[in-house]
Amino acid sequence: MEHEKETFSGTAGARMYDEEGGRIQAHGGQIQKFTVDGVERWYWIGEDKTDGYRPCGGIHMYSSDDLHHWKDEGVILRTMQSPEAFSEDYFQALYGACPEEEKKRIFIDLDRNNCVIERPKMLYNKKTGKYVIWFHADGRAPGCDGDYGKAKAGVAIGDSPTGAFRLLGSYKLHYHDDPDAEYGFDGWENRGSVRDLNVFVDRDDTAYVIYSSEGNRTTFISRLNESYTALATEPQNAREGVDFTRNFIGGFKEAHAMFRRGEDYYLIQSGCTGWSPNPASYAIAKHPMGPWREMGDPCADKGRETTYDSQSSCVVAVDEKRDAYLYMGDRWNENDLGDSRYIWLPVVFLPEGKIALPNMENWTKK
Ligand code: DGJ
Repeated sequence: MEHEKETFSGTAGARMYDEEGGRIQAHGGQIQKFTVDGVERWYWIGEDKTDGYRPCGGIHMYSSDDLHHWKDEGVILRTMQSPEAFSEDYFQALYGACPEEEKKRIFIDLDRNNCVIERPKMLYNKKTGKYVIWFHADGRAPGCDGDYGKAKAGVAIGDSPTGAFRLLGSYKLHYHDDPDAEYGFDGWENRGSVRDLNVFVDRDDTAYVIYSSEGNRTTFISRLNESYTALATEPQNAREGVDFTRNFIGGFKEAHAMFRRGEDYYLIQSGCTGWSPNPASYAIAKHPMGPWREMGDPCADKGRETTYDSQSSCVVAVDEKRDAYLYMGDRWNENDLGDSRYIWLPVVFLPEGKIALPNMENWTKK
């Protein structure tokens, strides 16, 4: 059976199943290692698209010892059918103490028939012992009919990677403080907008959020606070170049995947073409906030004009000592989003800081 092979299907894009035989629902995701109750395992967070685009299934988690066999840990950030759900035990335990106004805001972000929850990423905070999820919080909301007009970052917190997670809220982030500047389709009114996002924690435990803003024209990189639950500096007090940087201005990039190898930071991204794939690009820097040197397309093999029909979601440092880094991408199926595939490839390191993503099917890790 395909899910029992000890190979990664790579660009063959086979379906992936959990240990119970369920199709894995962890799109736009991220894998990382956590030690929970003394046991170190891999944890894979992602979008649950069981019902396609909507109703929105929330955020799903799986765990594994070997990156091949995945245990279903369930939906760790649940969405709600109606505001009445606040009286259910599950939501009561999480939000029972919230004032009514806050519940209204939370419902907008978790309303399964209207919300959009994309690209969830998790951080473990050593100081607080909490797990924090950042995700692209969007969807139809009062005063906003489109699916991508809200354009905020959602933040949720939990005691374990398997939840339950409580939504803290959704927020606009940093912006370039010049009403006359180019803000793309967002305009100055929608400054601080956030669409595709990712996070990165450096070896010194400083964490960053990387996000598309200014109508997806610009990639922002902002420092997070010590608990990873908010920006280090409120947007109204933030200084460009210090608290955040604007990168690839006018570059229209999405699907940010940042990782570190030695003293080099890498950022793989896609272009902006909806669910359709496009060529990837990557850049290299000596600091997570840049400046970034653009290095071109990491794909050189047949199919490179679509990143082998994938869009980056994350790069996992599987074993830094052995230089084993895993590219995770999504092969979106716009007509059946729940059947979108996961394209995992090894990252190959070349001289002069260059990398390559090879077009490989059914490969085995080193
Ligand atoms: C591309 C983004 O990378 C995805 O996460 C999703 O937002 C689609 N666009 C929607 O068209």
